[in-house]
Amino acid sequence: MLNREDFEILNTGIIYFDNAATTQKPRSVVNKIVDYYTKYTANAHRGDYDISLKVDEEYESTRDKVKNFINAEDRSEIIFTKGSTESFNMIVFGFMAHYLQKGDEVILSKGEHASNLLPWISLAKQIGFTIRYASLEEDNSLSMENLKEMINSNTKVISLAHITNSIGDVRPIKEIGELCKENNILFVVDVTQSIGHLRVDVIENNISFLGFSAHKMLGPTGVGVLYGKKELLEKLVPLEYGGGMNIAFSSSGEYELKELPFRLEAGTRNIAGVIGLGAAIDYLENIGLQNIHEYELELKKYLVEKMKTVPNIKIYNETSPSGVLLFNVGNYFSQDVAIYLNKFKICIRAGNHCAKMLQEVICSTNTCRVSLYFYNTKEEIDKLIEALKDQDKILETVV
Ligand code: ALA
Repeated sequence: MLNREDFEILNTGIIYFDNAATTQKPRSVVNKIVDYYTKYTANAHRGDYDISLKVDEEYESTRDKVKNFINAEDRSEIIFTKGSTESFNMIVFGFMAHYLQKGDEVILSKGEHASNLLPWISLAKQIGFTIRYASLEEDNSLSMENLKEMINSNTKVISLAHITNSIGDVRPIKEIGELCKENNILFVVDVTQSIGHLRVDVIENNISFLGFSAHKMLGPTGVGVLYGKKELLEKLVPLEYGGGMNIAFSSSGEYELKELPFRLEAGTRNIAGVIGLGAAIDYLENIGLQNIHEYELELKKYLVEKMKTVPNIKIYNETSPSGVLLFNVGNYFSQDVAIYLNKFKICIRAGNHCAKMLQEVICSTNTCRVSLYFYNTKEEIDKLIEALKDQDKILETVV
């Protein structure tokens, strides 16, 4: 357990095991946002007075923090978005729509989240490129062997999650990045589930584009990041036009857009959110991602061992090296299990976890998911296990 005392909500008896959906926020992040709203509220990049300049400083300092956090080469490669979903839509509809052609191939997997599948599926219908799905191994992790076999001269893009939100498998992004480099393939990575858990290095892993949301890494909702290598981002056509992104326009229909990153940040952004993201990065750096990862693996191991002592549990991802555990309890509907656990103030997620294609692989449309973070404890896991051992009470609780 690391720094649990910074999370007020955890003192209320709530056992929060839904960290892949969103994480709790430490006091320092909340304070930073409150400070903006109470001490220096102003717009960004528009004012010539002190508090507005302070906003610019804070907002832009988050850009530097993100740049350093993912080891980008240039601060203009960091674009603030509403979240992963917007980041992926910008990559697909702003860049790929002008890059891909009929006959090209894009490799995805069936384990991806909707935001790294639906934009591609939609664009493929318009352009006629082919989507191919890399197969999964028996343990539901990505088959590297199959991925390598799939690459051919038509392969233009590989787009995969670093850690999936359902199976929690950690993809070997260094190896995939090398494959992409050798074969002149763009490598798009969804780091939404890894950014607050494992170090992501865009240079070392030869990443062309990536996207993530702040709220899955201790930050606020409604803000995220799109990273792209500068020469690629330069070609990304804005999906939004308006204030803050243009230099000039006139009634003749001529217009000139700003340089990166501002060209891709139209309108008033989520300023408080961006500033909060900066505080979240400070917080994570302070604990250390390696410490977080190691602790999560220790918790996961404990969780799996304990789960195996409960009758009627089917686990789908015992070996995935992250804090995500996917399971079902006998024939109980996963949502009934979640409602039952709520009686003990235990929060888990039930359903298909926005990864609707995965059911084609794991043959179950609904599962229960525990997703751990550094503030969870073995004692909390013990309480979950105790509740699950009393599983014959599930139906009487939910009916
Ligand atoms: N995509 C989020 C999750 O995995 C909401 O739960």
